[in-house]
Amino acid sequence: LGYFTYDPGFTATASCSSAITFIDGGNGILRYRGYPIEQLAKQSSFIEVAYLLLNGELPNRAEFTEFRKDITYHTMVHEKLNNFMAGFHYDAHPMAMMSGVVGSLASFYHDRLDMRDPEQRMLAAKRLIAKMPTIAAACYRHHMGWPSSYPQNRLGYTERFLDMMFSVPAEDYQVSEVAARAMDLLFILHADHEQNASTSTVRLVGSTGANPYACVASGIAALWGPAHGGANEAVLTMLEQIGDVSQIGKYINKAKDKNDPFRLMGFGHRVYKNFDPRAAIIREAAHAVLDDLGVSDPLMDLARELEQIALKDDYFVERKLYPNVDFYSGIIYKALGIPTSMFTVMFAIARTTGWVAHWLEQSANPTPIGRPRQVYTGATERNYVGIDNR
Ligand code: CMC
Repeated sequence: LGYFTYDPGFTATASCSSAITFIDGGNGILRYRGYPIEQLAKQSSFIEVAYLLLNGELPNRAEFTEFRKDITYHTMVHEKLNNFMAGFHYDAHPMAMMSGVVGSLASFYHDRLDMRDPEQRMLAAKRLIAKMPTIAAACYRHHMGWPSSYPQNRLGYTERFLDMMFSVPAEDYQVSEVAARAMDLLFILHADHEQNASTSTVRLVGSTGANPYACVASGIAALWGPAHGGANEAVLTMLEQIGDVSQIGKYINKAKDKNDPFRLMGFGHRVYKNFDPRAAIIREAAHAVLDDLGVSDPLMDLARELEQIALKDDYFVERKLYPNVDFYSGIIYKALGIPTSMFTVMFAIARTTGWVAHWLEQSANPTPIGRPRQVYTGATERNYVGIDNR
């Protein structure tokens, strides 16, 4: 291989050094800036976690107030962006809209910024965190054919998002506290996960010096795949397909069959080989949220049963395949009234914080352009033959 190693899928290659998120996959440990995910999930808020990821430390009260004010200040999007959105087909997948619309933010907000200035970089990061929920809600409303809604800045981050999603002029929509807290928890759990496929994509694009909106748009595109963030949507579709506990065995067999492309969605993880600590928190939360909202969802019982059966099956045990973060998150989103096609968008809103934290870290300590090598398997040298002699 000459002077480089062959590592498809980067299973054994560290692409950068980072001080943001620590994962010990063998022991199911996840920490943001040193703080265990379990503590943050219980005691913190998404906006505080966002500050932590971006700045490295938890904010004191004044810093928190200032940060929240800054994020709130940037929640509006340029009115012309609504014209851009209006051009999409009514049933365009919201992730397709998201990657296009977020990429286009550069045309509104980038030209006047000097990315060598750390303050300007932080401003871009805050803009992205602030505008993602506004854009996400607009994608949903475009699909529903509802009039635009504008961010209500008297509300907190997650309440504001739910309000933009669901308020319609004819009804007096009130964001439920339970719903807002559940959404906030999911956002905390999805906020960062070190060098996953989408964050690595953001860093690779960032290494070229591309603007932060282009970097995050590329992260959204990478997240969309069913092996990554698209799994939360795929889990719900799968559970609906299975339909009944009596069918679980058939689907487990399909997942084990090497001639069948079907995989148990929401199962397995590249790094976690014992358990995914986020899945453990989400499983508990899913029960609590359904109880609090008074929702009874047969898919929850189906998911529990599927988990139990898979965890006792040799195939899954030997390969260390456990439920991941996406296995139960869809059940909570569904209970909150979020449509399945928006699940990955929820992930994207939360992960924007991680993406911009990595982009800030990388921009402060520039690394060489990301440029992997390859193992060439094509033809050896041969001579060109004219078209009449082939
Ligand atoms: N169902 C059935 N078999 C599986 C599954 C699954 N969900 N996941 C892995 N395997 C098998 C795979 O076929 C292989 O078997 P063998 O050794 O006999 O060839 C073995 O387990 C190892 O799998 P792998 O594909 O080499 O593992 P990976 O680390 O490359 O892939 C993964 C990790 C998450 C892409 C994969 O487990 C998967 O496709 N899971 C389903 C999709 C999913 O839930 N994705 C969300 C990941 S968590 C959220 C996020 O961070 O994005």
